[in-house]
Amino acid sequence: MVTFPVIGVVGGGQLARMMSGPAVELGLELHVLAEGPDVSAVAAVAHAQVGDYRDRETLRAFAAGVDVVTFDHEHVPGGLLEELEREGVVIHPSPAALIHAQDKLVMRRAVDDLGLPNPQWRAVTETAGVEAFADETGWPVVLKTPRGGYDGKGVLVLRDAAALPAAESWFTGGELLVEQFVPFSRELSVLVARRPSGEAITWPVVESIQVDSVCDEVLAPAPGLPDDLAASLTAAALRLAESLGVTGVMAVELFETPGVGVGYLVNELAMRPHNSGHWTMDGSVTGQFEQHLRAVLDLPLGSTEPVAQHAVMKNVLGGSNTDLYGAYRSAFSSGPSAKVHIYGKDVRPGRKIGHVNALAGPGEPLAAVRARAARVAAILRDGMEAPSTNQE
Ligand SMILES: Nc1ncnc2c1ncn2[C@@H]1O[C@H](COP(=O)(O)OP(=O)(O)O)[C@@H](O)[C@H]1O
Ligand SMILES: [Mg+2]
Repeated sequence: MVTFPVIGVVGGGQLARMMSGPAVELGLELHVLAEGPDVSAVAAVAHAQVGDYRDRETLRAFAAGVDVVTFDHEHVPGGLLEELEREGVVIHPSPAALIHAQDKLVMRRAVDDLGLPNPQWRAVTETAGVEAFADETGWPVVLKTPRGGYDGKGVLVLRDAAALPAAESWFTGGELLVEQFVPFSRELSVLVARRPSGEAITWPVVESIQVDSVCDEVLAPAPGLPDDLAASLTAAALRLAESLGVTGVMAVELFETPGVGVGYLVNELAMRPHNSGHWTMDGSVTGQFEQHLRAVLDLPLGSTEPVAQHAVMKNVLGGSNTDLYGAYRSAFSSGPSAKVHIYGKDVRPGRKIGHVNALAGPGEPLAAVRARAARVAAILRDGMEAPSTNQE
């Protein structure tokens, strides 16, 4: 009898959806606990059930039907996961590791403890604390909710003391994180995968370009990154993965600060496949979604070797075009070697609805690859009259 393990993903967003392709290829069964009937992954997996991931019994029943529990997002209450873990449920990443991606204050303390470079930071409970911090470090400062933020929701840049009243409503009882505003030259990201028995591997360091705090474009590898910096970023990611006991895929978001300190600062950690790793689906031997499945099953990890000299990922954000399929004809004829990934989500302005990966042909310069990816993404976003084709 042939048996394959069942992987349970909590959360039905695009990350769960993109795990389904490799799961099918490897013959693995993927179960998804979805937030609602219309979320991204539901149409892609046979075993999706709708339920509240914050409800103990729902989570327990979901876990009972799978061999390993993993995540599409980081919002599952840690206490519930600890309970399940005590009951024998296999969870990757474990709640003890996951807390560092769930709570930015816990993450900052851990990064300090490991002696890795943090921006200056402090836990604060009122705007007076923010002002005291800024008096020492200088304005601007960045105020963050430790939990629950994503895509810049939960991040507030305060230019000067005049902005403090606007921050008042952010204080609702608990501690917030305040950080120096880092004058970085660019944002970098290291993606690492680690399996429970300890094997770990990274992909090349990438540059990630955010627009309005949302990842817009990723360049792999990060152009012009000095070899010694690439090596120390990679070492830092492996060290974080090992010391925090991370299992599955983790993204380490970084600020490059040339000539200042060791040349970089840690921004935050994400313990799941990540937007800065979408390029790996087409740009490396093993994509992050397959690697995540391998890692949480404690299988040997796949090669992370790039398959082209440059890979570019361009996000498709919701725009004026609501007929995505209607734009496929123009998009595909405009960029025959670009790979389109669509998440099956309703189009809303600014919402992540897909991405485009483009790989460099032999000798093709990075600028040309970026232009190709951007052109295809723009067609999907804005739509374009499909050429009339009576001969079809
Ligand atoms: N201390 C900082 N200094 C300058 N920019 C920052 C700082 N912290 C965050 N940012 C900017 O805001 C973006 C989102 O912040 P981040 O902490 O990564 O939150 P999220 O959880 O929403 O991704 C970052 O990618 C970066 O562009
Ligand atoms: Mg971030």
